[in-house]
Amino acid sequence: MLPPRLHSRRRNPDESIRQTDGDASQARLSAVRKRYLNDPFIALLVPQPHLLPSRPPLINIGTYIRSEAIDELVVSWLQHNAASGSKVQIVSLGAGSDTRFWRLATGLLGGDLSRSIARYLELDFAENTSTKIRAIQVNKELNSVLGEAQISGASLVSDVYAIRDMDLRNSRHVLQDILIKSDEQPLGLLDTSLPTLVLCECVLCYMTQEQSDSLLKWFSDTFDQPAVIIYEMYGLNDSFGRVMKDNLRSRNVTLPGVDAYPTLDDQTRRYTNNGFPSAHALSLKTIRSQYIDPKELNRISRIEMLDELEELELVLHHYFVSWAFKNATDILRPWVLSRKVSTDSD
Ligand SMILES: C[S@@+](CC[C@H](N)C(=O)[O-])C[C@H]1O[C@@H](n2cnc3c(N)ncnc32)[C@H](O)[C@@H]1O
Repeated sequence: MLPPRLHSRRRNPDESIRQTDGDASQARLSAVRKRYLNDPFIALLVPQPHLLPSRPPLINIGTYIRSEAIDELVVSWLQHNAASGSKVQIVSLGAGSDTRFWRLATGLLGGDLSRSIARYLELDFAENTSTKIRAIQVNKELNSVLGEAQISGASLVSDVYAIRDMDLRNSRHVLQDILIKSDEQPLGLLDTSLPTLVLCECVLCYMTQEQSDSLLKWFSDTFDQPAVIIYEMYGLNDSFGRVMKDNLRSRNVTLPGVDAYPTLDDQTRRYTNNGFPSAHALSLKTIRSQYIDPKELNRISRIEMLDELEELELVLHHYFVSWAFKNATDILRPWVLSRKVSTDSD
């Protein structure tokens, strides 16, 4: 969730997009410090964490809800595949300073579920992958989890974890040539026969609809058992959305992909248009009111004073989490139903 900034130099739009990772990681750091979330790794990936101020309660709560919801979906998907004994792959698009790999690998998420992960691949622009690789090199808490790692340019490859620089707006042929293991490409990073979960956390909105659709379709066409989770903003054609877009524009950030799918129904159509038979989408507002354990809601409500519940709900109403599974469409329904605690709807 991006705050307004009043003054901003004109700069390369891609630089402004890369810098949105700073907003995401600083929001996470703030939510961790206030004990909404438990994540010992984020402070290692944020430069000069001690100098960063806390974010407002509304941002901390939003960060908590999206993080918990996505973690829950990832763990459910891992559990489903662990039950069948299959090795799996996770690909995080625009991963930035994301810490999920370390939280999985050290058992903070889902016990020993990470043993089934054959490859955890993160993709981002070279400037961001280089920064992350430097942080990994200097922090034992991060590099000791990887084992031996080969670093070349802005990429790193270890036994399971890999990070690779790439502009995701590139064509499917580039993805095919760079990522897929084959007889011609024995060093390719991904095996198309393994169940593969693609995480798109606040990244597709920075591309055009054609570019993000092409990515989804490529994963759907290329992998035998693809699964996708998307988190980002939506429904920005109201006054709240216009203010958000203006604030971003003042920082030289535009959201070329955000208006293509303005409702939650459109967000599920986004998958069905691109090769997935069905999909689910929930706003963060609905996830907070219906799917977060009431004990947890009670715990986080005691962390900080929230002035305006209405304002929180307005913000949460403009972010969603969606997911789709090509060959196992019902996996996550039990999660959704079992966590449901009230009947309010969006
Ligand atoms: C808002 S940050 C989100 C970071 C992380 N996924 C998270 O949720 O905390 C967006 C990230 O997507 C990356 N990104 C955006 N467009 C991209 C593109 N075309 N190719 C590669 N990375 C991109 C940015 O560099 C940035 O790291």
